[in-house]
Amino acid sequence: MCGIVGYIGQRRAYDILIQGLHRLEYRGYDSSGVAIINEEGSLNIYKSKGKVEALEHYAENKDLSGNIGIAHTRWATHGEPNDINAHPHCSESGRIAMVHNGTIENYSVLKEALSNKGYTFVSQTDTEVAVQLIEYIMQTNNCSAFEAVKEATKRIVGAYAIAVVDRQNPNTIIAARQSSPLVIGVGEDEYFIASDATPIIEYTNKVVYLNDGEIAVINRGEELKVYDCKSADESKIEITELQMSIEELEKGGYPHFMLKEIFEQPRTLADCISGRISADGKQVTLSGIIEHKDIFLNTNRIIIVACGTSWHAALIGKHLIEDFCRIPVVVEYASEFRYSNPVITKGDVLIALSQSGETADTLAALEKAKSAGAFVFGICNVIGSSIPRATDSGCYIHVGPEIGVASTKAFTGQVTVLAMMSLLIGQMKGTISDSKLQEIASDIRRVPTLIKEIFKLNDQIQELAKIFTYAHNFLYLGRGYNYPSALEGALKLKEISYIHAEGYPAAEMKHGTIALIDNDMPSVVIAIKDNVYEKTVSNIQQVKARGGKVVAIVTEGDTIVSQMADYVLEVPQISECLTPLLTAIPLQLLAYYIAVNKGRNVDQPRNLAKSVTVE
Ligand code: AGP
Ligand code: GLU
Repeated sequence: MCGIVGYIGQRRAYDILIQGLHRLEYRGYDSSGVAIINEEGSLNIYKSKGKVEALEHYAENKDLSGNIGIAHTRWATHGEPNDINAHPHCSESGRIAMVHNGTIENYSVLKEALSNKGYTFVSQTDTEVAVQLIEYIMQTNNCSAFEAVKEATKRIVGAYAIAVVDRQNPNTIIAARQSSPLVIGVGEDEYFIASDATPIIEYTNKVVYLNDGEIAVINRGEELKVYDCKSADESKIEITELQMSIEELEKGGYPHFMLKEIFEQPRTLADCISGRISADGKQVTLSGIIEHKDIFLNTNRIIIVACGTSWHAALIGKHLIEDFCRIPVVVEYASEFRYSNPVITKGDVLIALSQSGETADTLAALEKAKSAGAFVFGICNVIGSSIPRATDSGCYIHVGPEIGVASTKAFTGQVTVLAMMSLLIGQMKGTISDSKLQEIASDIRRVPTLIKEIFKLNDQIQELAKIFTYAHNFLYLGRGYNYPSALEGALKLKEISYIHAEGYPAAEMKHGTIALIDNDMPSVVIAIKDNVYEKTVSNIQQVKARGGKVVAIVTEGDTIVSQMADYVLEVPQISECLTPLLTAIPLQLLAYYIAVNKGRNVDQPRNLAKSVTVE
């Protein structure tokens, strides 16, 4: 998901490239690199795992001359973060170099075809397959890098933003995009390329946004040319003059990373699902599960360990796995599990659920289970982080770097992977019918579109937040799949607005907590049309009878709760087991707008860290 920078002009390219990589650091990354063509026509590539400083240190005494180059900060999707998998990747002949953002879904098919033609590969990345494909096309068609890139885009399936240099043609950079952003900066006799305008804005505010399916030919000292990859028609160049600051650009125009990441969820969930559910919804593919089919077929218990928001996702995972796989699931706070004396048997499977993959308690809990003989499976976001490296197998949620401390897109990514996982294991065990699998899997594919629908509530939620900005306490109530949603909604509010909030099983209220209800204790109640809807309706009546204000999250078209609640937010209808993916969205937005109204530091709330690597 990370970052691309390119330059062609009169300046020393390295200076522009490195500064550009620093500008892109906010996007999160695990390695970086540069490729520069010097005056003698040598293509020099320097790359390093870790921070951009590591690259600068590595390149210190190298030949950094040349005024054309490309650079990359990597957010690994295929192949762990290391020097070899870092970009730029070079073709076998050493003639062309390429940087790439995105994922190439059909890379293994392309890799096999190229291998059969004698091509060899040094990295584990999908990107290297693409650069070899481009070289293959150049050699077999005897064409330019431009023609080869144009042809390659017709054979590549997936999301990409790419930049290519050809050492035999040091006056041209080729750039193309499909589903990953790419911006071209138009300077005085120089051009810049980047994933967003932050590396460009200090040199020029004139930019051209490449559109999906377009390819740009950037020639030194010539007019920029852009073409449609399929039709080869020349596109009309539209130059935009940017007025935003660098900080505004880093957040994609949003005031905070958290809000950007809330609104990114349709795309990040599409990335999370990509290549994992067939278009007809009949097949779910998670290689980390399939490769260990026997383990999941024979286990008698699954333990899920996690912390915070990930623990809430784990609770939803319990419902999913027990519903569709009929395997008993125990959900444990990692911090409790690691210091307890759990009974772990050889057949147990332990799932470590963690966005960062670095949470100390979760890592310790999985080590404890592993040493006791359990099979350990990781579900993480950060590729190559400590937890995935410590597990027997795993699966990534692929939602891209989550910068805001309050987890939003990672939560929905975790729940989505848990849902796909439960369908796949259920299918293996024969505990779910093909028709049920297809129904749920097809609904998972609908989630990105349905979340976009929910964004229409944004203004209504902003108004609602004004009403509750000065509340001192909040109750969040839910049942079944949405009891964890209530817990998650409460945590979101607590951690960014500093208002005390408590998530509670709606039915449990009458056993004490209802004593808290009065006009100063508002309740958010998740009352979607599920198998306990009528019971939740009576819980709302109990709260109202004691003078409590109710904000209800209901299924679109609800006519009962909307008559009794004080405020109603409607979410689209979907399979009950997937409703947490939808009810999370208004609760994320409500917490965000209340916190903003209170002037809180939304992206870095007090006392919190994005990754809790201490005990
Ligand atoms: C959630 O918004 C918080 N950032 C926090 O509870 C977080 O979920 C928890 O620290 C676990 O982090 P992890 O998923 O990276 O392991
Ligand atoms: N899929 C490529 C890789 O894993 C690019 C990842 C990125 O967008 O940084 O190297």
